[in-house]
Amino acid sequence: MPDLADRFSSDDIERVLIDAATIERRVDEMARQVSADFAGVDQLMVVGVLKGAFIFMADLCRRLTIRHHVDFIALSSYGRGATTSGVVRMMMDLKTNIEGSHVLIVEDIVDSGYTLDYLLRNLSTRNPASLRSCVLLSKPERRQVEVRIDYLGFEIPDVWVVGYGLDYADTYRTLPYIAELKARIYQQRA
Ligand code: PRP
Repeated sequence: MPDLADRFSSDDIERVLIDAATIERRVDEMARQVSADFAGVDQLMVVGVLKGAFIFMADLCRRLTIRHHVDFIALSSYGRGATTSGVVRMMMDLKTNIEGSHVLIVEDIVDSGYTLDYLLRNLSTRNPASLRSCVLLSKPERRQVEVRIDYLGFEIPDVWVVGYGLDYADTYRTLPYIAELKARIYQQRA
């Protein structure tokens, strides 16, 4: 793939935290683990949380060696600022009835934990056969509510990260790596 990172201003990036090759290796490992754990399951329902999880979800699912369906749910808690309101809003629900299905939630990041907590509670009321979470990044220092993460890619420090699906004000999502954003960018609107 061509290096398209320059289409965003490199002045905005403090440093690359996790490069593309490292992400690829870890996603590969996670997909192998998920495939092994769900090997006996007839059909897995993989639920991606929009928008942030769209790239991770696509890469993960293409590596799964088990039968699966995909669906998406859109939630929002941040708006354009840098701090969570703690109020999670559902912007778009699943199209699928998950009752009796084995469900794997795919999230890009767990920060305060409010979003995943909301989702686990919400989806569990729909009586799935099982409900697990697969999360690429976690910032343990920021946790406000304890949530169970069944598959985790990386623990990261409390810095604003962008790329590989993650944004700031809806920008930088398609950077091929995960990078720390310069503080001056998000402090403009904090
Ligand atoms: C981000 C991210 C997670 C959530 C994690 O979503 O994708 O869903 O925040 O934060 P939390 O643990 O503090 O709840 P955001 O609301 O920014 O929407 P987006 O995925 O569309 O970028």
